[in-house]
Amino acid sequence: MLSVQPQRGSVIRTSTKSITTLPSLSIMLVRAVLLAVCVTLVRSDTPANCLYEDIRGTWTFQETERSGDSSLNCDQLGPVVHTKTFTLSFPDTATDELGNEGTWTMIYNQGFEVNINERSYFAFSYYEGDFTSSTSFCDRTFNGWSRDKTVRNWSCFSAQKNTKTTPRVTRKVKNSLPTRAFKNDHKMVEEINGSQTSWRAKAYPQHEKYTVEEMFLRAGGPGSVLPSPPSPAPATPQQKARVSFLPENFDWRDVEGVNYVSDVRDQASCGSCYVFASMAQLEARLRMATRNQRQDVFSTQDAVSCSTLSQGCMGGFAYLIAGRYAVDQGVVAEECNPYTALDDACDTDASCARTYVSQYGYVGGYYGACNEELMLQALVENGPLPVGYMVYDDFRNYEGGIYHHTGFKNDFNPLELTSHAVLLVGYGVDSSTGEKYWTCKNSWGADWGEGGFFRIRRGTNECSIESMAFDATVIP
Ligand SMILES: *[C@@H]1O[C@H](CO)[C@@H](O)[C@H](O)[C@H]1NC(C)=O
Ligand SMILES: *[C@@H]1O[C@H](CO)[C@@H](O)[C@H](O)[C@H]1NC(C)=O
Repeated sequence: MLSVQPQRGSVIRTSTKSITTLPSLSIMLVRAVLLAVCVTLVRSDTPANCLYEDIRGTWTFQETERSGDSSLNCDQLGPVVHTKTFTLSFPDTATDELGNEGTWTMIYNQGFEVNINERSYFAFSYYEGDFTSSTSFCDRTFNGWSRDKTVRNWSCFSAQKNTKTTPRVTRKVKNSLPTRAFKNDHKMVEEINGSQTSWRAKAYPQHEKYTVEEMFLRAGGPGSVLPSPPSPAPATPQQKARVSFLPENFDWRDVEGVNYVSDVRDQASCGSCYVFASMAQLEARLRMATRNQRQDVFSTQDAVSCSTLSQGCMGGFAYLIAGRYAVDQGVVAEECNPYTALDDACDTDASCARTYVSQYGYVGGYYGACNEELMLQALVENGPLPVGYMVYDDFRNYEGGIYHHTGFKNDFNPLELTSHAVLLVGYGVDSSTGEKYWTCKNSWGADWGEGGFFRIRRGTNECSIESMAFDATVIP
């Protein structure tokens, strides 16, 4: 059977065992991926599923000459000029062979980033296999990219851990996703409505124009399946004290009457939520930085089609798009590559001006350090934040109110749990029930939820929403 790597542009060449990076996919291969997905999405597994303990330890980085620019292609490693030893230790300290210190973070279960000696290194963890089954070799990486802090002097590298980790076979998923149309479960909608009063459910007729797979892609897709989301870090007394100065209710759509949040969009049938959340963040940050002088709408297709740091319509993560991609390559206006919701070849108008991010990171500094208090503070002080959370069946039917997971399943087409990315724009407390909530901007159109937005329970890490918020600074 066709073996397809879900990483965009990754090794389709299953015959070679050599470490390669993620070259751009030709249209044909994209079609092959989509075809394979239609058949097998069903058992979609995260190809790389590496955990903190797999990555923590001492690594040898083999790095090429530092003479490239941001167009550097690392499919082939090239001659190794620098050999570095980096020790990655708890919680986020990286140390080189001379004792110089830097930082590191996991990027979900996909790979890791090291920032040390004024350079930044990122590579995806190595795996073999496809959507149906895969094995992660977390003690080595695909070829990755390194560049200095000023985004010059690019090189390629590959990393190998000095101690072996046991290859990790990703879990098998039982349920299947037939290619037939998605069907609303009206009984579930009534059950949700009847079981609680925090939120209301509704059957969206527009969901039935999608297939079951497409509904799966809309909530994250196979590239965003996250078997073990991190837990929030306990809040320190200082973090709690600082939060006590924040307002009880806050919303970037109405800060003393001014809206800094761009319009709700619709990602359609592509697993591009992480790109929509990323661009929505950069759009809002740009409005804030320019007092609404610049109201750009950024091209989501550019990142879907052109970034080697994501899996296109198969999923990805905001850290690598609103963060690393926006620093490395920048983002462009929507007109420069209008949205098609397909894994098209990269076709961005090269004459378009690009907008860049200067710095980025997980709220709390590294993956696993996030919590409610830090999110509140970062949201009010810095602006809207992409967040990830788990989408269960009942969430798709959200109409309004403060969502929490009820446990009801869609009997016609129960879907696998995915990590969906949306933009956190506000928070508050319900005046009649006292229930605390977050307000988020989704990318399922303005006719879903509360005008395209939803509220979700706050303070209890509902669906993991307090475990992976992300911050970025845009250059206006
Ligand atoms: C680093 O980049 C600068 C600017 O592109 C270039 O002039 C310089 O030669 C590069 N250094 C190395 C070691 O290639
Ligand atoms: C769900 O509840 C809301 C409000 O209680 C109501 O307007 C709506 O008709 C209900 N929908 C269904 C399908 O029961």
